Amino acid sequence: VAAETAGVAHLDPAVRRLLADAVGAQHVLVGEESTAAYDNDWTGRFRGRSAAVVRPGTTAEVAAIIDICRRHAMSVVAQGGNTGLVGGGVPLHGELVVSLGRMATVGEVDVVARQITVGAGATLAAVRDAADRAGLAYAIDLGARDSATIGGTIATNAGGLNFLRHGGTREQLIGVEAVLGTGRTISHLGGLLKDNTGYHLPSLLCGSEGTLGIVTVARLRLATRHDHRVTALLAFGDVAAAVAAIGRLRSMLEIIEAAELFLDTGLNLVCSAFQLRPPFPTGHAVYVLVEVADVQDPTATLAAAVDHLTGVDDVAVAVDSVQRAALWRYREGHTTAINTIGSPHKLDVTLPLDRLAEFIETVPSIVAMVDDTATTWLFGHIGDGNIHVNVTGPADEDERVDDAVLRYVASLDGSISAEHGIGSAKRSWLGLGRSEAEIETMRDIKRALDPDRILNPNVLFG
Ligand code: FAD
Ligand code: MLT
Ligand code: ZN
Repeated sequence: VAAETAGVAHLDPAVRRLLADAVGAQHVLVGEESTAAYDNDWTGRFRGRSAAVVRPGTTAEVAAIIDICRRHAMSVVAQGGNTGLVGGGVPLHGELVVSLGRMATVGEVDVVARQITVGAGATLAAVRDAADRAGLAYAIDLGARDSATIGGTIATNAGGLNFLRHGGTREQLIGVEAVLGTGRTISHLGGLLKDNTGYHLPSLLCGSEGTLGIVTVARLRLATRHDHRVTALLAFGDVAAAVAAIGRLRSMLEIIEAAELFLDTGLNLVCSAFQLRPPFPTGHAVYVLVEVADVQDPTATLAAAVDHLTGVDDVAVAVDSVQRAALWRYREGHTTAINTIGSPHKLDVTLPLDRLAEFIETVPSIVAMVDDTATTWLFGHIGDGNIHVNVTGPADEDERVDDAVLRYVASLDGSISAEHGIGSAKRSWLGLGRSEAEIETMRDIKRALDPDRILNPNVLFG
């Protein structure tokens, strides 16, 4: 399934004229030179070839595109910042790409309601900045913040670095405007918090990975801005000690914002990729980066909690933004550093907290049993039980390692997708996480909202 080669990417001249009438000829891109940036995914593992890229500027234009595509049986792939990691946003079989980049309006912050309305193409960074300028915060944050769009984060129900405290994108989503595969436009952006009027369609669209509708506008919840932040990097001799420490920190610290794990091998790779000095004079097996945030200085609270831990071999503490960024670099640098080796197989999984240590210790040998030339890189949002298993070495289309790891995850009652989604990458394994009845129900929903099956046909279902 992986790294499928695109079919012939052909756009009927009559359809091209209709699309140009709908969005303006300058917003219909054809030809490899213009569409190349939209054809391949961020990891380089999934490559396609679009029939064309259409860049609508309004919801009505998106509706016109869907109408044209339904009438001409053309499949569509929605695309935001193209930072998704499961091959969901690329036109694997010559689909039309609908890029939401022009719909990037960031509305005024409603400081009383603590909400904001934004276009689907607004970047996460732009929304975070707008909230910050108004003295509030948008709780979702991730390494791809400068490119990832609000529409993409809604479609994937992105989790990110602060899930531990604030939940994922679904928890921030109050209302959406979207064009469904039926051609209908739904819009519910009033911002009422108590609103039990039937099915909650924003929740349904959130995490649907572009298979049911194209999100065009969103109403988002904003959070309190905690101006006092402290970040600590804790070093441990083994995984079990690190996992136990996280359990204790979570129970002691209500103000914990992030708890991220990486290993010595990953740290060394990041340091050499970005020419960084390591954080400690000697290496340690496991590192956990902890961040706390509060409306007053939380340094003493964090220090007291760390004092209660056992198995901590070293600690680096950062209180100002420059020092904090330096510590975060070791963690956030993993994705880019791993990409310098080759296109990785990215397996983003959740384990029950009591199976985490066993999983982290065992999974490299499971990978090695399948392919002894492969290298396993482990890092992730340990506070959420979410580990990113990245494997370099196997060819893009060789899925033996993916199969072994995902089956191992299922055997431990984990989830085969924590926060990146199923996309194209994991659709063969959906049955490991969902029962037949659940998958059939999802197919019923897909049939109802996208009867012509034109939306993201390569995603989610096998
Ligand atoms: P795209 O990649 O363009 O699309 C992703 C999916 O959403 C595709 O299926 C696409 O068809 C669909 N889609 C896009 N826009 C719309 C729309 N308007 N309507 C309907 N469907 C749409 N994810 C996390 O959860 N947590 C992390 O910590 C995290 N960190 C990352 C760090 C890096 C460096 C990178 C490269 C990625 C990271 N991601 C993370 C992956 C994450 O999925 C994306 O960054 C983000 O959610 C996708 O946004 P995007 O605009 O780039 O979407
Ligand atoms: C992360 O946590 O850094 C992201 O999910 C990206 C990745 O998995 O590489
Ligand atoms: Zn992540």
